[in-house]
Amino acid sequence: MQLGLMDPGWTGSGLLDASHLPLLRVLMLWVWKASGEELASISKAELAQMAEEDGLPVRAMKRHLHQLCRQPRFRQRLLWADGSELTDNLDLDDLQAGLQDLQLVLLPCAETSSEQISELAEAVRNDSVLDVEAILHRPQDPDLGTALHEAAVCGSLEVAALLVEAGASIDKEGWDPDGQTPLHLASAHGHLDVVRFLVHAGAEKSMLENQGQTPLHLACSNGHLDVVRFLLLGEGPSIDMPGPDGNTPLHLASATGHLDEVRFLVLDAGANVHVHNDDEETPVHLASSNGRLEVIRFLVKDAGADIDALNIKGRTPLHLACAHGRFEIARFLVAARADIDKKDDHRLTALEHASSCGNPAVVSFLVQAHVNKEVMTLYPSPCAISRSMVRGRMQPLLQSASVAGARPEPRACETAIPTYLNVGDA
Ligand SMILES: *[C@@H]1O[C@H](CO)[C@@H](O)[C@H](O)[C@H]1NC(C)=O
Repeated sequence: MQLGLMDPGWTGSGLLDASHLPLLRVLMLWVWKASGEELASISKAELAQMAEEDGLPVRAMKRHLHQLCRQPRFRQRLLWADGSELTDNLDLDDLQAGLQDLQLVLLPCAETSSEQISELAEAVRNDSVLDVEAILHRPQDPDLGTALHEAAVCGSLEVAALLVEAGASIDKEGWDPDGQTPLHLASAHGHLDVVRFLVHAGAEKSMLENQGQTPLHLACSNGHLDVVRFLLLGEGPSIDMPGPDGNTPLHLASATGHLDEVRFLVLDAGANVHVHNDDEETPVHLASSNGRLEVIRFLVKDAGADIDALNIKGRTPLHLACAHGRFEIARFLVAARADIDKKDDHRLTALEHASSCGNPAVVSFLVQAHVNKEVMTLYPSPCAISRSMVRGRMQPLLQSASVAGARPEPRACETAIPTYLNVGDA
C-alpha cells in the first residue's frame, strides 16, 4: 500500500537515524475505488485508533469505509497492489509495513440458493456469530429469508447487529401470516436488549402487524414489563392506542393477567381504565371473563374502574364472570358491590348466565348473594345482627329467592351455605 511517506515537518535538529525512521513517519493509507476515484486517506494514528476500538484493523477500516462508500464491509474487498486480498485478521504491523496503495472493490451480493438462505437462518438460530459472519461474507443478502426475524425471536443481539450492519431491512415484515417485523417479534418474546438495539437502529415503534398490533401490544399480552417500559419512552404509539378488536395495551395486559404491567400502565403511564374496545368492553370485562382476580381487584379498588360497566350486549363484568364460571371473580365483584340484579340486553341476570354456564359453585353463590341482599334489606343495620341470627333466617329466604326466579338444585344450595358468611369479606 502506499503508506505514503510524508515529511512531518522535521525541524532538522540532530541526525536522522534510519532505525528511528518508522517512528518519525506520518503514514497515510490511501484507498482507491476500482473506478480510480480516491475514497479515503487514513493516517497511521487514525488507523491505530480504529484498530484499538474495533480489535481488528482491517475490519475497522472497512467499517470506516462503509460510511464513505455506503456498502457494508461484507461486500468490500481491500486489495494490495498485487491484487491479493487483505484478510480481516491481518494485524496492525502487517498493515502498516506495506508501502502500497490499497484498492477497494465492491462486490454485488452473490446468487443465493434456497439452501444458502436456510443455512443463514440456521446459523442465526444457532446464535453462531462466526457462521453468520462467514455467510454474510459470501456476500449473501441478509434480506433473503427472515434472518433478522429469527435473531429477534432468539434474542441474539450480536447476530442481529451483524445482520443490520450487513444491510438487513429493519422493518421488514415476516413471512408468517401475522406479518410481524423484527421489533414485533423481539417485543413479543421479551428480548429487551434486541428491542433496544432495533429501536436505536431506527425500527418503527408504531408499525402494525396484520392483526393491527404494535410491538407494545405484543409486549403487553406477553407480560414483558421491561419491554413495555422501554417502548413507552420517547416517541411512539399512544398508551391507549387500540389494537386488534379495539383492545388497548391495558385491555391486553388485563386479559392476560399481568398485574405488574397493569399497575405500571395505569399508575406510571396513565392508561385509561374506562376505555372500551370494539365490543364496548373495559379492561375489567376482559379480566373478569379471563378470571384475573388480582387484576380486577387492582382496577376496581385502586384504579377506580367502573364495576358495572356495560359491554355491547349490556353485560357487566359480573355477567361475564358468571357466564365463564369464574367463582372467585364473581365473589369479589359481589363483595365490591357489583349490581347483582342487573339485566343485560337479553334480560338475563348474572344468575341466569351462571346457570347456563353450569358451574354449580357460581350458581349457589349467587343465590346466596341474593339472599344476603334481602337480609340486608330486612335488617338495615347488619352489624347489629348476630351472625347466628342471620343464619337462622337463611332457609326461608333461600326459598323466597327460589320463588323469585332462582332455581338452584338442592345440592347447590347446600354447598352455598359455607360461602354465605364470606360474602362481605372477599
Ligand atoms: C448449527 O448447529 C448445529 C449443531 O451444533 C450444527 O450441526 C450446524 O452445522 C449449525 N448450522 C450452521 C448453519 O452453522
